[in-house]
Amino acid sequence: MVNPFVEAAIGAITPAPAVLVIFGATGDLTARKLVPALFNLEYDGYLPDTFAVIGASRSTHTDESFRALAKEAVQQFSRRQFDEQLWERFEKKLFYQPLDGTKQEDFAALATRIKAFEKQSAQQCNYLYYLATAPRFFGAIAGNLHQAGLVEAAGEGTRLTAVIVEKPFGHNVESARELNRTLRESFSENQIYRIDHYLGKETVQNILIFRFGNSIFEPLWNRKYIDHIQISVCESIGVGGRAGYFDKTGILRDIVQNHLLQMLSLLCIEPPVSLADADSIRDEKVKVLRSLKPIAEPEVNRFVVRGQYSGGYINGSAVESYRDADGIDQNSLTDTYVAMRCEVDNWRWSGVPIYIRAGKRLPKRITELAIYFNEPPRSLFKGQGVDQISQNVLAFQVQPDEGISLSMTSKAPGPHMQMRPVEMDFNYGSSFGIASPDAYERLLLDALKDDRTLFTRDDEIEAAWEYLAPVFAAWDSGSPMHHYEAGTWGPHQAAQLLRETGHRWRRL
Ligand code: BG6
Repeated sequence: MVNPFVEAAIGAITPAPAVLVIFGATGDLTARKLVPALFNLEYDGYLPDTFAVIGASRSTHTDESFRALAKEAVQQFSRRQFDEQLWERFEKKLFYQPLDGTKQEDFAALATRIKAFEKQSAQQCNYLYYLATAPRFFGAIAGNLHQAGLVEAAGEGTRLTAVIVEKPFGHNVESARELNRTLRESFSENQIYRIDHYLGKETVQNILIFRFGNSIFEPLWNRKYIDHIQISVCESIGVGGRAGYFDKTGILRDIVQNHLLQMLSLLCIEPPVSLADADSIRDEKVKVLRSLKPIAEPEVNRFVVRGQYSGGYINGSAVESYRDADGIDQNSLTDTYVAMRCEVDNWRWSGVPIYIRAGKRLPKRITELAIYFNEPPRSLFKGQGVDQISQNVLAFQVQPDEGISLSMTSKAPGPHMQMRPVEMDFNYGSSFGIASPDAYERLLLDALKDDRTLFTRDDEIEAAWEYLAPVFAAWDSGSPMHHYEAGTWGPHQAAQLLRETGHRWRRL
């Protein structure tokens, strides 16, 4: 059943026997992402034969009722069609253990369950703990696992023990440091897998392959040839059922601090010592994050525009304003849009503006990284009736319609000197003929294989929070909030941010 492209994409090695405990097993993330991802890994033959998923949460469930819940989730959210035969094989790997993450005594029962599974399968298993719970429980769960003897110190034992942590990882640099400190009381840094699901996306991984697997672009990848960069994470959805979380978070924390700055760092890194070793790549990423030119608090309004949507229309349907959405405070000052002018202040990038934007309730969903190369000198075209030569733009479309395009200027056919921009396109769908695996498939498989490359390290998270700290400080002391109509591309002040430097947002 293994598709050769998928195999090449997600690696051929089947992980060692393992027990994966999911805390927060009856929550949204487990249903929408984790269980469907595991089902798809089973479909591709990537799960080890000896493998147990133990769902843990406070709800009263049995193995049977948890399996029924998981079945519904797969039927609703799996990227592949539900398959009854495969399901029968897969469900045998699912178990449930009622547990309160804050109660030490509940972990003894979990330990008994895990040991019983190992005994019955006559195999020693690796232990992975997925914390799909609210962050306030992370510390208690990690501590209780440790006390119950379920964490083997790295390098000491023969098994891998690791904890997988969902975002948000803190809400500022202090809370992120505190969380790192708490987790490290029970796990060492290389036993902590911090999820940023954008790193599991095929197209995001392809940024590195594209840069370092093709020799023609690398010589151009610097301030001498690149005019500026634009990174956009646009969504047409609002906050849906996540109002409580989002209203306390805002888009700068929800998308920029993690997904967007991670993509920026991959785009700008120096060649790592190796692509096969987690720390080589992460060492280079953190250097980029630390080289981001600090924005002083009094300068924030010059470099950062925050916005919030008012009512409008998307695809012809009326959309209510953010403040009118269920569960949102009528006077909320939460950012649903942000645009920033950043700069990586190092030898390669100094002076190259990097514009980033992220927003909810924009006209469509699109995530794109666009590299604008310098314009050619005009002298050759003088007197040819040519007033605008378009720049070469290399665009990575992360989603939807994953692909890469390069725009060039070409002569239009005919007796006159007329120029037109044209595009060379590479599209994943048509080139590989398959849908890309979901990010969580890749990340879960990597965790099972003890490959930390696509997980963020403590210093990366802290550097990203540190860079944004002055922005939060300025916002807290009353930076202007610009309103934009739902279904538009954000507040017009965001266009001004680029106009000052002679640029324009790319039309998406
Ligand atoms: C999540 C954010 O991390 O990413 C959400 O919390 C956002 O607000 C989502 O909608 C976007 O992910 P994707 O994979 O749909 O682009």
